[in-house]
Amino acid sequence: MTYRAVVIGAGRIGLALEADDRRPKPATHAGMWMHHPATELAALCDVVPEFEAVAREIAPEARCYGDIDEMLSAERPDIVSIATHQDSHVAVARRAIDAGVKAIACEKPISDDLSTAQALVTEAAGAGVHLIVNHARRFDPALRTLASNLQNGVIGEVLQVTGYYVYGLISTGTHLIDLLRMTLTPFAGDVSWVAAWPNRMIHHHPDGDICVDGVIGFESGLKANIQSLDMRSYDHFELRYYGRSGLVTFDGLQRRIDYYEDVDAGTRSGFRELSATPLRSEANPDNSYFAFLADHLVDCLGGNATVASSGEDSVHALAILQAMSQSAERGGEVVTLTECADVGLHSVAALAKG
Ligand SMILES: NC(=O)c1ccc[n+]([C@@H]2O[C@H](COP(=O)([O-])OP(=O)(O)OC[C@H]3O[C@@H](n4cnc5c(N)ncnc54)[C@H](O)[C@@H]3O)[C@@H](O)[C@H]2O)c1
Repeated sequence: MTYRAVVIGAGRIGLALEADDRRPKPATHAGMWMHHPATELAALCDVVPEFEAVAREIAPEARCYGDIDEMLSAERPDIVSIATHQDSHVAVARRAIDAGVKAIACEKPISDDLSTAQALVTEAAGAGVHLIVNHARRFDPALRTLASNLQNGVIGEVLQVTGYYVYGLISTGTHLIDLLRMTLTPFAGDVSWVAAWPNRMIHHHPDGDICVDGVIGFESGLKANIQSLDMRSYDHFELRYYGRSGLVTFDGLQRRIDYYEDVDAGTRSGFRELSATPLRSEANPDNSYFAFLADHLVDCLGGNATVASSGEDSVHALAILQAMSQSAERGGEVVTLTECADVGLHSVAALAKG
């Protein structure tokens, strides 16, 4: 069976970055539906007509539209990718659900508004639509293995975690928060409080976003530190997990996971220290997260998988991001998730379970 897919929002991640020679392919929503054996890219839609010239180069067989509803009624797609900006994700997704699609691949963050995001999750579930949010690392088999390794004690009890990101809490920090939840929540519970401070040394982020440093606290008592760097200097995405018997690091750009173990100290008797070099490494710099996403969504449609990066997870990540923004506005005051905005941890957790 071939599923018909369309892309709404044919900008950088929707279409144009497919032309970046250095990115593993597919590198965009359009690219993944063009190249997956079980899908075809039927059409693209954008409000800016200039996208058609780009589409002619990258996706010459796809039809181009300037109006979402016109495209949805003419194309009757099974799959809709949403690669507009976050303020329109929910409204666009609702139109796709009304048009009877089977699956939505929505860019992160799910929305800029927690309560409408939560409502969308309920509506998609009610309509039987698979809603997948592109927190892309959720689809990477190596990171899924890392999550189960941590849960199974590969470095013993996890004691400290630090993550680094660039270019805005909402824009990129959402990937970090989501990955922390993916890897830590199975044994540390969910995030129950946060504290954050604006990074006064860094001002490079999209309009309306902010770079913050902070701490997120899990129900078990485990804390994760989050620190922002300046993308004008270099891009960076990193996680470091320290356990009682070792260290695991994830380099998000090289897509490399290194496992260090505790060994006898080289320069002192009776002490243990972390190995100077990793004792085990996995690196897959050429893997395409979009290829993983396409495989996963097709598996969901075939009944062979349940959604790995769900709307519920994304609502949860958004609640944490908003709590961190609130804390930063209040100069680092601790914000519990029950205090956060208009949705509390318990209602989000209930939503995630049910
Ligand atoms: N998952 C990732 O790694 C990743 C990477 C980059 C961007 N993103 C996310 O993807 C989204 C888009 O980012 P981008 O960098 O591609 O932005 P972009 O500005 O290049 O593209 C967005 C496109 O959406 C179009 N658009 C806006 N409203 C529309 C509407 N109603 N109908 C049709 N088209 C509409 C715009 O004209 C624009 O071409 C954002 O949510 C961003 O956070 C995710």
